[in-house]
Amino acid sequence: MLDRLDEVKAQVATALDGALAALPEGELRDAMRYACIGGKRIRAFLVMESARLHGIADNAALPVAAAVEALHAYSLVHDDLPAMDDDDLRRGMPTCHVQWSEATAILAGDALQTLAFGLLTDETIGSEAARLSLIAALSHAAGASGMVWGQSLDIAAETAAEPLGLKAITRLQGAKTGALITFSASAGPLIAGADPTPLRDYANALGLAFQIADDMLDVTGDEAETGKRVGKDDAAGKATFVSHLGLDGARTRAEALVAEAEAALEPYGEAAGNLRALARFVIDRDN
Ligand code: IPE
Ligand code: IPE
Ligand code: MG
Ligand code: MG
Ligand code: MG
Repeated sequence: MLDRLDEVKAQVATALDGALAALPEGELRDAMRYACIGGKRIRAFLVMESARLHGIADNAALPVAAAVEALHAYSLVHDDLPAMDDDDLRRGMPTCHVQWSEATAILAGDALQTLAFGLLTDETIGSEAARLSLIAALSHAAGASGMVWGQSLDIAAETAAEPLGLKAITRLQGAKTGALITFSASAGPLIAGADPTPLRDYANALGLAFQIADDMLDVTGDEAETGKRVGKDDAAGKATFVSHLGLDGARTRAEALVAEAEAALEPYGEAAGNLRALARFVIDRDN
């Protein structure tokens, strides 16, 4: 699975480089390129593996993998802004607004988002119907009923009179992190015109396990290892799975979600080995 992740990383880097090379040169493009460096590429991996499971060739899935990583990169650039989490470290480097300026970071995020939708129009992906369904699904997953909605709930939670309960946190995280992960894992069936239900179920569990791991790393993680500041959630007075369940309880919950994710893959049998391995990777990671 790690070999495949490395392969996906290299493929995505090439695809993003190509897309960025077509843009006018200057600070905006430099900042966009900077924001796309690094990352675990988990979302791209989900796209490529879900595509492979449905008989879609790598070159057809690649623009979708690049699109989701461009959109994710935008979400991180904006997440780190002073008005949001006010972070100065991302992927082991100064955040985009620290490296360039706040205005450039906002604009780079904006342009990475539109780039993502442009990539989904690439004819190598397949039929017009497939591309349209991807565009509709990404718009839903990234916007005001998906990732951006989750971000707004997250920001509101910082100033809420009462800390959020587990149910509210689950809903928030399902949107903030889960929606894009679910889009990524559904990409293969969407391109193939197949039923996305099993992979959606897999991704719903995986996304939550992923965010629990992110919250755990915020407590136990190492800045050199994670490449981002830690201890931020507690400092912001944010309720998380860790603040509710403790580290052991959060770990137990994440383990249960991994088992749930694995069970959802049953219809795919052996062919889903890499996705099974990813579920474990997501909660065992230290970055
Ligand atoms: C970080 O996502 C932001 C969250 C949704 C928790 P990742 O941990 O996937 O970040 P990169 O892409 O590997 O840097
Ligand atoms: C951000 O969540 C998720 C996004 C949609 C970008 P966090 O604020 O917890 O992500 P990190 O910890 O900064 O990566
Ligand atoms: Mg945040
Ligand atoms: Mg953040
Ligand atoms: Mg976090």
